[in-house]
Amino acid sequence: ILDDAEQVGDWAARLIIKKINSFKPNPSKYFVLGLPTGGTPLKMYEALIRYHKAGKVSFKYVKTFNMDEYVGLPFDHPESYHHYMYENFFKGIDIDPLNTHILDGCAPDLEEECRKFEQNILDAGGIHLFVGGIGPDGHMAFNEPGSSLRSRTRVKSLAYDTIQANARFFNNDASQVPKEALTVGVGTIMDAKEVMILVTGSAKAFALHQAIECGINHMWTVSMLQEHAAAYIVCDADATLEL
Ligand code: GLP
Repeated sequence: ILDDAEQVGDWAARLIIKKINSFKPNPSKYFVLGLPTGGTPLKMYEALIRYHKAGKVSFKYVKTFNMDEYVGLPFDHPESYHHYMYENFFKGIDIDPLNTHILDGCAPDLEEECRKFEQNILDAGGIHLFVGGIGPDGHMAFNEPGSSLRSRTRVKSLAYDTIQANARFFNNDASQVPKEALTVGVGTIMDAKEVMILVTGSAKAFALHQAIECGINHMWTVSMLQEHAAAYIVCDADATLEL
C-alpha cells in the first residue's frame, strides 16, 4: 500500500526493472512481460521510459503480450490499445516491434486470432510477469463478471458497467464504445509465473475488498489471484477504503 498513484506507478516500474535485470535477458533468453492498458498503468509506463532513458533498463530482449483489445477498432484509432501502447510506452523504449504482441480486433477470424495468441505465448516459453489493472467490477483484462476462472484468450461481450466506465475515452459517449473485445482469459493470467495488479482510487475500493477479503468468485474475476502462488497487489491508500 503506497500513498498515491504516482508512487504505485514508480513501485511497479521498479519491480519490472528488477525482474528484467535479475533475469539477465539475452538473444537466447527473452524476458516475457504481460502488459495492460487503461488509466492506471500510465504512471508506470512514464516511469519505465524515464528509467530506460537513464540507462537503468533495456527492453531489447523483452517480449510483450498485451491483455486485450477492442473488436473493430483499427490500429490507428486513438482509443485502440495498439495506439495506446505505441504512444504511451513502445515509442519511448528500445523494444523491437516484432517482439510486441497485441491482439488484432479487426482480424478476419477472431477465434483464430485468439488461438494464435495463446500459441505465441507458449512459443515464447510462457509469461514471466503479467501486469494488470482492474475495473470497478473487479474484472481483469476484459474478463467480465461471470467469466470462467479457467478461461483462455477469446472474444468477450463487454458488460454494461465497463462500457459506461470506458465511455470517458470515447467523448463520454457510451454508444461509441465497442461492445466486444478480445481478451486473455483468467486461466491465461493464472499461468504466468508472477502477476502484479495495480489498483488506485476509491472507485476500485470495493473491488479490492472483493479481491482479497471475500471468497474466490467468478463474479469478481480478480479474486482468482488468491489461488496464484506469486501475485502482488500494488495499491494506493484510496483503494484500501473498503478493507
Ligand atoms: C479496461 C481494461 C482493463 C483495465 C480496466 C481499468 O476495462 N480492459 O484491463 O484494467 O479498463 O482501467 P483504468 O485503469 O482506466 O481504470
